[in-house]
Amino acid sequence: MVTNKILLLILVTACTISVICNAKGSGENGGLVANFYGQNCSRAEEIVQTVIKRHVSDDPSLPAKLLRLYFHDCVVRGCDASVLLSSTENFQSEQESGANRRLGGFEAIDDIKAELEKECQGIVSCADILALATRDAVSLQYGRPLWEVPTGRRDGTISSALEASRNIPTAFSSFNVIKDIFRRKGLSIDDLVALSGAHTIGVGRCSLFSHRLYNFTGKGDQDPSINPSYADFLRTKCGPNDGRTTVEMDPESSRSFDNHYYEILKDNKGLFTSDATLLTNKKASKVASKMLDSETFFDEFAKSMLKMGAIEVLTGTQGQIRKKCNSIN
Ligand code: HEM
Repeated sequence: MVTNKILLLILVTACTISVICNAKGSGENGGLVANFYGQNCSRAEEIVQTVIKRHVSDDPSLPAKLLRLYFHDCVVRGCDASVLLSSTENFQSEQESGANRRLGGFEAIDDIKAELEKECQGIVSCADILALATRDAVSLQYGRPLWEVPTGRRDGTISSALEASRNIPTAFSSFNVIKDIFRRKGLSIDDLVALSGAHTIGVGRCSLFSHRLYNFTGKGDQDPSINPSYADFLRTKCGPNDGRTTVEMDPESSRSFDNHYYEILKDNKGLFTSDATLLTNKKASKVASKMLDSETFFDEFAKSMLKMGAIEVLTGTQGQIRKKCNSIN
């Protein structure tokens, strides 16, 4: 009898805490829920998927663009679509930061937003559109969603180039710098290694790694940590002062989202210093070895994307639902 009462008390207390937590927008997924628009805009997710299919068939590089755009959104002020805001008289937006040069995918997001505003005005946030569109674009080659996207994010009203520069890791960042950035966002070394697998698709600019080929320590030398035959190959693509050319980050399968990144990484063919540096940490290197198993990679990537998508999200009455993704209401 007494035990039953204690059990009941524990149950009630746990439920109360959980309700409060969810109402405050914390909890497991930051207060996000599956199918948030089910009642108010039931075709929202279907519309995102349809528009994305059209855009990816016009531009096969879109999955990579969106995946990077989404990461750069979440790591600065959380996943609040702050990266989509254009500069105004009052602020220099995140887009002006050097770390955000060559970002893309904005037109696809604007197109989805326009379609959704026609279907149900002022309901679906740009932050959720970016989260869903990224998942759908990357998953398209498999015909099934590669990770879950709970929804209910709201849009931020502030975007700062300075904050972007402080929070987005660069091609030149060391392991500790990157690890600290991720840790500040609640992401572990396991998350860092799993999410780095995103570099299995897309391209990078020569100017961000050519020092590794031509002038690593200022003496006309090559980075000793780069695979020599890969360096030879890269030199055929990029001259020493090439500011324009881009090369595929995973040359053998740069349009296919898979775990091939870890194979090239382990072969010292990571393109940037920031990739190669994963092998300099014992734990990260061990995690990268585990990712050589495809099933492990897809499982871990899905878990880490769920975590990334919940970073500092605005929910409930926080923020707003923008009418247009590039400007606040
Ligand atoms: C771990 C720290 C990271 C660093 C230092 C980093 C750095 C970079 C750099 C320098 C580029 C090339 C940019 C250019 O050429 O202008 C790039 C591209 C890219 N990054 Fe990362 N990144 C990191 C993590 C991530 C994460 C977590 C994701 C997504 C989950 C991601 C997704 C991408 C994608 C898809 C591209 C290719 C974009 C395109 O082709 O348009 N990156 N990254």
